[in-house]
Amino acid sequence: MGNAQVPVIAIDGPSASGKGTVASRVAAALGFHYLESGALYRLVALAGGEAPERVAAGMDVEFFNQDILLNKHYVTDKLRSEAIGNRASEIAKLPAVRAALLERQRGFRRRPGLVADGRDMGTVVFPDAVLKVFLTASVATRAQRRHKQLNDKGNHATLAALSSALEERDKRDAARAVAPLKPAVDAVSVDSSELAIDEVVDLVLKMYRERMSR
Ligand code: CDP
Repeated sequence: MGNAQVPVIAIDGPSASGKGTVASRVAAALGFHYLESGALYRLVALAGGEAPERVAAGMDVEFFNQDILLNKHYVTDKLRSEAIGNRASEIAKLPAVRAALLERQRGFRRRPGLVADGRDMGTVVFPDAVLKVFLTASVATRAQRRHKQLNDKGNHATLAALSSALEERDKRDAARAVAPLKPAVDAVSVDSSELAIDEVVDLVLKMYRERMSR
């Protein structure tokens, strides 16, 4: 089976829309591989250095169960900070960084299938994905979700500060010239503001099965 025949489900959307949780659960339900593309941008931010495109091309990354290793060191927790997320979004504007990460991302497409989440999975990285979902939620819902996530880890950012940071990041991601945050023309938009994570997972699985039975 050629690489292009391996089915891909692309789940894109803004910060804290729940795409990571949904994507990893859909992958587990189908026994598919999972690519969290945002982690790659976060890794470039964490690695630092003068030439991010060279870091992006050369970094040694391993995804091992729920953990992520950068140059053989566990960095899973450090990657999740808001500071790294914001720096990642700055670095993600650079076309050379995006180009350096493109083939690495496509390398995750292996049998029996892949679920990939990010900003440009359906538009740039896997334009031939069988199912493209654009997952959104209101700023208020997303700020609350991120607040809970951070609080669980002992980080006490205020709701107001989180919502303005989210809005700022959305603006930067949507306004950039290369691979901006926007739904693919053939994406299905799902607003998860009023839905539980399980409901979104079930909806994505249902849409995928419908596509495959056509
Ligand atoms: O989930 P959250 O939005 O907090 O973060 P993320 O998905 O880990 O992405 C961090 C940053 O990486 C985003 O703000 C984007 O600027 C960038 N990114 C991107 O440009 N393209 C992707 N496919 C994934 C992330």
